[in-house]
Amino acid sequence: MSPWNIPEHYAMVLGVFNKPGEHPMSDPVAAKKGPYVVALKAGDYFYCTCGRSASQPFCDGSHKGTGFTPRKFTIEEDRKAGLCGCRASGNQPFCDGSHKDL
Ligand code: FES
Ligand code: FES
Repeated sequence: MSPWNIPEHYAMVLGVFNKPGEHPMSDPVAAKKGPYVVALKAGDYFYCTCGRSASQPFCDGSHKGTGFTPRKFTIEEDRKAGLCGCRASGNQPFCDGSHKDL
C-alpha cells in the first residue's frame, strides 16, 4: 500500500509512483562491499554511480528513472584499477578504502 492508502497498482496507473522497474531517487546500491579490480585499456569509461547496473562497475543504462547518471572517466594508459563497488568512496570511480567502514 502507498503512504496514501492507494493500492500500488492504481498508484502506478495514476502515475503517482514511478513505472515498474524504475526507482525513485534514493541512495545508490552497494553492488559489492569492495572494489572491482579491472584491467583497463587507455580510453573513456562510464562508471555506474547508481549501483544497479548488471555490468558492474560500468553503466548499462539501468539508472534510468533513478535520478543517477553515469560518471565518465578517462584512463590515460593501460593499467589495473580498483573501482568502487560500495559507492561510498570519496574518490569515485576509484576505491578509497571507505568500504571498510560499512
Ligand atoms: Fe567503495 Fe572501496 S569499494 S570505497
Ligand atoms: Fe548505474 Fe547507469 S546503470 S549509472
